[in-house]
Order: sequence, then structure tokens, then C-alpha cells
Amino acid sequence: MGPRSKIIGTGSFVPEKVLTNKDLESMIDTSDEWISTRTGIKERHIASEGENNSDLAILASKRALEMAEIDGKDLDLIIVGTLTPDMPMPSVACLVQCALGATKAGAMDVSATCSGFLYSLSIADKFVRSNPQMKILVIGSEVLSRRVNWQDRTTCVLFGDGAGAAVVTGGDEKGGIISTHLHADGSVWELLTIRGLGTKYPVDEEILSKGWQYIEMQGRDVFKHAVRALESVTNEALTAAGWEKPELDLLIAHQANIRILEYLRERLELPRDKVFINIHKYGNTSAASVPIALDEANRSGRLKKGDKVLMISFGGGFTWAGVTMEW
Ligand code: UT7
Repeated sequence: MGPRSKIIGTGSFVPEKVLTNKDLESMIDTSDEWISTRTGIKERHIASEGENNSDLAILASKRALEMAEIDGKDLDLIIVGTLTPDMPMPSVACLVQCALGATKAGAMDVSATCSGFLYSLSIADKFVRSNPQMKILVIGSEVLSRRVNWQDRTTCVLFGDGAGAAVVTGGDEKGGIISTHLHADGSVWELLTIRGLGTKYPVDEEILSKGWQYIEMQGRDVFKHAVRALESVTNEALTAAGWEKPELDLLIAHQANIRILEYLRERLELPRDKVFINIHKYGNTSAASVPIALDEANRSGRLKKGDKVLMISFGGGFTWAGVTMEW
């Protein structure tokens, strides 16, 4: 086995503005009680006017680079998982590349919805395994607040804005990323979609009046697919890493619903402290959720050298992914 890739720095950033469940009570027909018990969310951060995806991505990246003790100019590649770029062109990654002075880096966005960070991390892992000298910045960043219908209580209470980043480079044969697992099922895409403002339904009065610029979700169906897919990729990843369930030190799962996390915890027979939870503070931040959680786990000392960590995600498409690593 050749050298593995490893994460040498993490960072995250969320906008200052906080929207609580209480605030939502005065905007739509909902309650703190409903949102808390059905989702686990208490509040979320929302980008202010003029604050864009790349702004969050750049701030999260600077924190990750600082921890990794490397400069933007040392980066070879920047990959951003996102479904809410500033613009269709250029990519968020190019805006980050410019802001960081990453003059020798390639830059691209990866469209894999909530799995965007783990898809991007998997790509970075393959590059680094073939050239361990490479330094790759992997980001998950979203401004979902501009793509939710604030009149639709079934979706608007769920999402938040934020960004997380990780610097990946070659490690030794012990530790680092062990296995990556990517999956997709496009047959049921309509269960979770933003159907408008692409080439199929370009911007016009009719599309806007239908609200097709916003997220649509069949929540109950998505929930069923999510638990099934997350459990399946978990088993696949544990087998690939050669780990038994009790050996796992930390599960960092996409923060979409506390009930999904609780279901996984029970199936894996894990104690509460082995499942990372921050959904109460941020809601569902799509591609940003796993890297924000990773950064919080790292900075709070929750991750110890040698810990066996499983990261998993699930989102629109559908896409789902798993990554095992030794910290
Ligand atoms: O990130 C990608 C992956 N996403 C997910 O994994 C999300 C998966 N889905 C979910 O997390 C859950 O399905 C939701 C949190 C979205 C919804 O929870 P649920 O327990 O599945 O609720 P429901 O959709 O079955 O709705 C139950 C009731 C309905 O009323 P009736 O028809 O029973 O009278 C809804 O109209 O709750 C009502 N409701 C609300 N009530 C107060 C829906 N949204 C709200 C709300 N406030 N915000």
C-alpha cells in the first residue's frame, strides 16, 4: 500500500446573522416545538445582503490554511463542493483561488449537493495518492438561504448557510484517509430538487411564479432514502476499513435531521459521544455540514491522533458518500 492522504488543517465560517426558531414563529405558521422535535434544529446562520458563497468559502479556507501552516500560493488544487455558487460561471473555486493568491492551483466546483464535500475529498485523495507532494484545499460552502422559499414552512425551517474547509496532502502509511465510497441514484431526483434557473427551466415569469427557483423536497420520502443509503454506505465503509462497529471513535454525518443521526447511532450501537451533533446551531448546511462538523470536532479536541473516523453524507440527486480515516 502506498502513502495515504491526510488532512493537515481544517477551518469553518458561518455568517454572523442568526435566525432562531422563535424568529421563524413570527414569519410563518410554525413553532419552536415542532422544529426542535422533528429536526433538532434551534437556530441557523443566514448570509447578509452582499455576503456570498465565495466570501464564506474564503474565510473558512484561510482558517484551514493557517492551521496547516501553508500559504495559498503553495496550493496545487482547490475543489469546492456546492449547489449554491455565486454565479454559474466562474466557479466558486476560481473566486477562492484568486482571493488566496493560489497562483499555481487548478480550481473546480463539484456538484454533488450535500455530498459535495465528501465527493471533493475523495477526488483530492486520489490526486494525493498518485502524487503525495500535492497540497489540495477541499471546501464545502453554501448559501442555501437564497434558494429556499421563505413562505414554505416544510423547507425554510431546515436550511442554513456556512462553509468548511480542509487541507489535504500526503501522509505516511499509517493514518489518513483509508477508503472513499461514492454513490448516486438519479431515478428519484424529483424528491429533492431546485428545478428552475438552469437550462431546462430558464428564468421567466412563469417559472418564478411557480417558485421553481426554490428547493422542493418530499421530506418523508427523502428521510426514508437517506437512512437506508447512510446505513448502507456505513456498512460498506466499515468493511473496507476492516473496522468493527465498536472500534469507531467518531461518526461525522451530514446534519440533516437529529432523528436520522439518532437512527444511525442506534443501528451502529454507538454511545452518544461518538456521534457528532451540531445541527441545533446551524440547521442543514448541505455541502458545508460535514466540513463544519469536522472543524468543530478538530478544534474542540474531540478528535485524537489515531481515532477511527467515519464521515457520511446524503443529498439531492440522490448522492451519498462515505470516507473512513484515521486521524
Ligand atoms: O440534506 C438532504 C437530506 N435531507 C433530509 O434527509 C431531510 C429528510 N426529511 C426530514 O428531515 C423530515 O421529513 C422533515 C423534517 C423535512 C419533515 O418531518 P416529518 O416528520 O417527515 O414531517 P411531515 O413532512 O410528515 O409533516 C408532518 C406535519 C404535516 O402536517 P399534517 O399533514 O400532518 O397535518 C406538515 O404540514 O407537519 C407539518 N409541518 C409543519 N408544522 C409546523 C411541516 N413543516 C412544518 C413546520 N412547522 N415547519
